Amino acid sequence: MEGGIVINTLIIAHRGASAYAPENTMVSFMKALEMKSDGIELDAHMTKDGALVVCHDERVDRTTNGKGFIKDFTLEEIRELDAGSWFGEEFRGEKIPELREVLELIKDSNILLNIELKNAPILYAGIEKKTIEMIADYGMEEKVIISSFNHYSLTEVKRINSQIKTGALYMAGLVEPWIYAKRINADALHPLFYNLLVPELIKGCFENGIMLNPFTVDDERYISALLNLEVNGIITNYPDRAVKIRDNTGGN
Ligand code: G3P
Ligand code: MG
Repeated sequence: MEGGIVINTLIIAHRGASAYAPENTMVSFMKALEMKSDGIELDAHMTKDGALVVCHDERVDRTTNGKGFIKDFTLEEIRELDAGSWFGEEFRGEKIPELREVLELIKDSNILLNIELKNAPILYAGIEKKTIEMIADYGMEEKVIISSFNHYSLTEVKRINSQIKTGALYMAGLVEPWIYAKRINADALHPLFYNLLVPELIKGCFENGIMLNPFTVDDERYISALLNLEVNGIITNYPDRAVKIRDNTGGN
């Protein structure tokens, strides 16, 4: 560490490099890798026939040419949708990815995959088990962290496989949340970033071995501030920006 900046803070591409390509698509994930991201964050849901698919909203309306809830589509039906042209004509033909495609993409690299289980308000029965089984199929237990705003999903993950890392997402200004994180056996807290501008949070997490991966940090001033605070990871729509700031400020 030099100049007060840690150089090992992981830069995690939020929904892929989603400032540059349609969120949660393969092109967005590939762009994140090109930009030298250390990790990728994505959002997982389950189709009517039990396939794990990658999309942010419960409905497909905002990011595809279809309409309706993911839970009401079969995998085959959802794969027919165009998940790219809403963002730009050049992305026409991008599909809602299956989770397995993303595992396939990064399995031979050191990229961290943050799988956010979107298990509320739609509850997908068994999504934790299915996700963990797929991770195990690829032998990627060490490369994954599962996060969720539904912390019951996180305790279920730990019940199934205590070796899988979990991160508790939250948006409020919680007091001493590291105590809660330990209570639910979470390895990390994933707070909305501006809750982090409280020195005792950094100290409390550090002293209790809880990782801090704030989201979604796009402004250069906040990226620098969080690097200075020595967080473990920064979740951002602009991984290129964050990598550049980290590497130019913290290098030798
Ligand atoms: O995982 C960080 C962030 O993705 C949580 O919020 O709504 O962007 O999925 P959201
Ligand atoms: Mg997310």
